[in-house]
Amino acid sequence: MSSKAIEFAQHQQERFVEELKSLLRIPSISTLPEHVGDVRRAAGFIAEELRRIGMENVRLIETASASHPNGHPLVYADWLRAGADRPTVLCYGHYDVQPAEPLDEWISPPFEPTERNGNLYARGAVDDKGQMWMHVKALESLFAANEGRLPVNVRVIVEGEEEVGGEGIAAFVREHGDQLRADVALVSDTEMFAPDLPTLCVGLRGMIYTELEVRGGRTDLHSGMYGGTAPNPFVALAQIVTKLKDEEGRILIPGFYDCVARPTEEELKAWKALPFDEEHYRKTEVGSSELTGEPGYSVLERTWARPTLDVHGMPGGFIGAGAKTVIPARALAKISMRLVPDQTPTEAFAQYKAYVESIAPRGVEIEVRLIHSGDPIVVSTDNPYVRAATTAMREVFGVETVFVRGGGSIPIVGDFVRELGMPTLMMGFGLPDDNLHAPNEKFHLANFHRGIESILRFFSLVAA
Ligand code: BES
Ligand code: MN
Ligand code: MN
Repeated sequence: MSSKAIEFAQHQQERFVEELKSLLRIPSISTLPEHVGDVRRAAGFIAEELRRIGMENVRLIETASASHPNGHPLVYADWLRAGADRPTVLCYGHYDVQPAEPLDEWISPPFEPTERNGNLYARGAVDDKGQMWMHVKALESLFAANEGRLPVNVRVIVEGEEEVGGEGIAAFVREHGDQLRADVALVSDTEMFAPDLPTLCVGLRGMIYTELEVRGGRTDLHSGMYGGTAPNPFVALAQIVTKLKDEEGRILIPGFYDCVARPTEEELKAWKALPFDEEHYRKTEVGSSELTGEPGYSVLERTWARPTLDVHGMPGGFIGAGAKTVIPARALAKISMRLVPDQTPTEAFAQYKAYVESIAPRGVEIEVRLIHSGDPIVVSTDNPYVRAATTAMREVFGVETVFVRGGGSIPIVGDFVRELGMPTLMMGFGLPDDNLHAPNEKFHLANFHRGIESILRFFSLVAA
């Protein structure tokens, strides 16, 4: 039943990529206020295409949350005419992207999509516009091959705030979850473990993203006149930061590890069997002289099943060229923690805040703010949808699927599972060297096309 759709997709490969390029030209950077218009334009582009291929009830849903009072819109569409005996699949993706800086490290500009060596380079190529587009193109192929009908009922939800915490979609799920009701959610926003190795991601880390502000004097002060008496917020901040983790990478926040669940023996055994070359990973992916982190845990455990804490930047003070002798009045650090089952963002933030306040040096005031958060999640693999997905990918890739976790976060996945009780499939086609969030992000085009075929086979298999 899917062979006509596969043929259609194969004949349209070039057009599918050209359309994706048009979407990638829109710099829909959700965190930058100057791009609100672009973000909305990207939403409109997707809505228009969903309408064109035959989806119904296509609309933009406005969002608002505490952190984003004028949120970026959700794109919604459905086609529910397959019949009550057929399952309903919810397709999820996000059309917003991370900022593209540092720009001078891009070989071709981030918003001028360019093909090189079978890859499509652009910000958002794989995270997540390209992967979301696979869903749209799989649906288009099925419509085209089946006289405007789909083998299953489908809802589509595409968000524009994933990269800034996804509060808008979370509020929508809380208030209008019934509008997204489905038997299974399909998420394509993760990676394959290795080239040619079909992969289902069965777990994600959660996170809390925070700002830590340290205030010293009433204003910036001359460091000659006041150096020696006035507290320096940057030094204080550095002192706090060095007390967050020990040299081995263990987080020093009291109680932080209390709720950390150990992966099952089965999982640990399966991870050991994965084709992982630590030295290659160190050299080509990380590019540092050594890997750091908690002793006694493998790299995969450290990135998938252990919490971590990172400092992203410390804005403030004098950072221009040359020299300026000043004691800044304030210093800021952007600090996030990745969480694993069974930690909760609320508890982790409370522990962090209490600890930071308890170690604040004399003479400064500190403020700890939560920017956004998301729950960690491990999904079940024991359902017919997982079997359909692995069958579909075996048909396309010719090998068995591996099950992995991801170290990254997709905040809404936890809500799909917990709030809506939906089994959720994370069937992603990125590669470890696709440079997500980094310069020269790319999507390996063979995986874009194999992804489309896997997804349309999946739809056909779950219909049966
Ligand atoms: N697609 C990623 C998450 C991801 C990447 C999961 C690789 C598994 C493997 C997503 O777009 C992302 O980057 N999420 C942010 C979420 C945050 C801003 C709340 C992240 O993980 O930093
Ligand atoms: Mn993503
Ligand atoms: Mn991302």
